Order: sequence, then structure tokens, then C-alpha cells
Amino acid sequence: MIVSALLLIVLLSGAPHASAYQVRKEITFNWIRDSRNVVRNQTAILLQNDGYASDRLKVRTADGYLLTVYRMQPKKSRLGAVLLHHGIRQSSDMWTVLGPKRSLAYQLYEAGYDVWLSNSRASPETDGHERLDRDSDHYWDFSFHEIGTEDLSAVIDHILAATGRKTLHFVGYSEAGSAVLALLSELPEYNRKMASVELLAPPAFMQYGQFSWIARMVEPFRKLFPWSVYYTRDALPTQICTLFRNECCSLFGQMNDNGNGTRTQRSPGPANRPRDGCFDLEDVSLKQLEHYRQIIASGRFQQFNYGYSANLHRYKRDPPPDYCLWDVTARISLHYGNKDKTVDWRGVEMLARKLPKVAELQKTLYKGFNHRDFYRNPRAQETVYANVLKSIKRHTVVATLQ
Ligand SMILES: *[C@@H]1O[C@H](CO)[C@@H](O)[C@H](O)[C@H]1NC(C)=O
Ligand SMILES: *[C@@H]1O[C@H](CO)[C@@H](O)[C@H](O)[C@H]1NC(C)=O
Repeated sequence: MIVSALLLIVLLSGAPHASAYQVRKEITFNWIRDSRNVVRNQTAILLQNDGYASDRLKVRTADGYLLTVYRMQPKKSRLGAVLLHHGIRQSSDMWTVLGPKRSLAYQLYEAGYDVWLSNSRASPETDGHERLDRDSDHYWDFSFHEIGTEDLSAVIDHILAATGRKTLHFVGYSEAGSAVLALLSELPEYNRKMASVELLAPPAFMQYGQFSWIARMVEPFRKLFPWSVYYTRDALPTQICTLFRNECCSLFGQMNDNGNGTRTQRSPGPANRPRDGCFDLEDVSLKQLEHYRQIIASGRFQQFNYGYSANLHRYKRDPPPDYCLWDVTARISLHYGNKDKTVDWRGVEMLARKLPKVAELQKTLYKGFNHRDFYRNPRAQETVYANVLKSIKRHTVVATLQ
């Protein structure tokens, strides 16, 4: 509570400067940019270390981003394609963290599936944008909404064209769940392109999470100042987070954290990108984090809140509309943990209740699993991944050989 009081003081003392911010034109959505040497084919290197070949492909989105997608293609692929997509602050390398025997990507490949690992526009493995500089503010003007409606839609269409199939299986961890739900509700025709959708710890209703108090506390102040105050370089949130490191880590940092898990010990070398704790917020846009903060604070799975007049202009209403989960008719399986403090099990069960009952809905609660266990805990292999594989197999149509 002392911290909250201090935070209030900092916020209020920032008020007199608000007018200075108003005149600024530039808006930044990135928090901290990565200026270190970035390995753009990290996933290929890790796959190779583990003894698997892959193709690195480029997929262009309708709005000009050049996404990197890896394909592990079996010799005979009669079972169809599975697309795996990563969470916030991650890249497709997350699917290799558990190593050759245990990783879901390898299990699917060994089972005979055509495995695709995609990277969002936020991923360090992605090749930027055809016009926008990766370091520009406009590049980072996106949240999970665009990752779903622009990135995932482009990747899905690319895979269906490349494989000549009508459907694919989708597996998404964390933010990928929000993104695909945004896609399936905004562009419902994509429901027919999904043979099955497996969501690991999907964030949609997040008000039960451990950090909802701080997300709500910021809420009244959001309305006090123009948008630019919060989303300018050196703006209030950045300053506050510099002062209240732990609180910001709680709210934003633990959304996901690559940490230095199994991977670091398993294969040391320049290929590794170990990350140091929570404040290493790179490969993320502030808008991604703010969208989640809004969802946590409002308890609604809703579109980005731009403020009253911008909302009226953009959505013809204020507050912004909820994502229409009623339109999500794909076959969905929800995998969630009872020790997940970021995506609390009650939020996932709420999501299950809001999805329409037109398709079979599976939900499986994993005892003792926290948010990161879904890709880092070796126990995921015989529990979560076994169930994912079973569910995918159940919805697989074996193609007849021509
Ligand atoms: C990764 O990229 C580097 C530099 O372009 C290249 O030398 C290397 O062979 C690539 N590794 C893999 C496994 O594709
Ligand atoms: C990460 O590595 C550092 C030092 O190498 C260690 O002190 C720390 O406990 C590790 N963190 C995790 C989460 O493994």
C-alpha cells in the first residue's frame, strides 16, 4: 500500500507536465529497442542442433510486414499441417526449449505432421517491414489484435496455399491464444480453415490474475491525459516503471519471460539469447502491454481502447466493442494450469462459457502448472503435449495418396 501511495504521488506530480507532452507529435509504441546483435535464424540453428532440418520462409502480411516462418516438412505428409505460434516477447524458438525428446514441435513432426513455426511482427526473427524501419514508432503500432488479424491470417493462407489443403491445426501459447481469438471473431471465415485449435494458457479474461490491482489502479489516470502522455518516449509509464521496477515486472514482465531455463544449460553458445529478468522488455510494443492492461482492468476481452473520441471515430462507440466470441465456431481445446497467476484458471473457464456451443469444446486443467510450465516444464510432454497430440489426431483427415 505504501507503494501504491507513492505511485499515486508520482502520477499526480507528473500532471503539470501534461501540456508539454501534448505538443509532441511523435508516438512510440516500443518500449526498449534491442540494439544487440540479433540472430534472425535462431530457430533454424536450434533445430539444426537438435538434428532437424527446416526451411526458413518469408510471409508478407497485407500491411507489409515480412514474417519469418519455419517449416519442418516430413517426406510423406498425408496428415496435414500444424501451425505453432509463440507468446509475447518470444519467437518460434520457444518450441524447442524442451529439447529433442520432449518438444511438441518434434513430437508432431515424428508423428508425421507437416510442422510450421511462425513468428509475429514482434519477433526478433522477423525480417522487418517492406517500408517501415524496424526502429520506427510506426513499426511498433500493434497489439495482439494485429498479430491475429494480419500476421496469423497471412501465415494461415500461405500454409494452405503451400500444402493445397483446406484446413490446418493451430497450436498457440499465451498471447497466440488472444491473437487467434481476435482473428476468429473479427474474420469468422477463418473458422473454416481450422481443423482444430489448441490453446495453451490463453489470455482473454484476465481480471482474476494476481496483478489486476495494479492494472486497475492505473485506469483512472489513463483518462486524465491525452494518449500521447502515455505513449511517448520518456512518458509517464516508462518513468514510473523505472522507479517501481518490481511492480512493473509484476504487471508486464511476467506476462512472459524467457528467463534462462533449460535451453541455456543445454546448448551454450552465441546462438542463445538469455534474457535477464523482467525489465528486459525488448521485442514488445507498449501497445501490446497496454492492451493487456486494459483487458485486465476492464475484465472484458475487448478491442483496444483509444480514448473517447478516437473510439467513436474508429469503432462508432465508446467503450470499445468486445471481441465477438459468439462467432468463434472452430473446434477449440483449452489447456490451462491451476497455478498460473497470469492467466488464472477462472478466466479460462469464463472463456469456455462464452464460446458458442456449436463445436465440441475441450478443457483440461493441469494441476501444479504455472504460466511458463506449458513450454518449459519437462512434464508438459506426457501431460499437455500428449493431450494436444491426441486432440489433433482425432481431428485429422488422412489424405489419400494420389
Ligand atoms: C543462420 O544464418 C547465418 C547468417 O546468415 C548463416 O551463416 C547460418 O548458416 C544460418 N544457420 C542455419 C541453421 O540456417
Ligand atoms: C538465471 O541465471 C542466473 C545466473 O546464471 C541465476 O542466478 C538465476 O537463478 C537463473 N534464473 C533462473 C530463473 O533460472
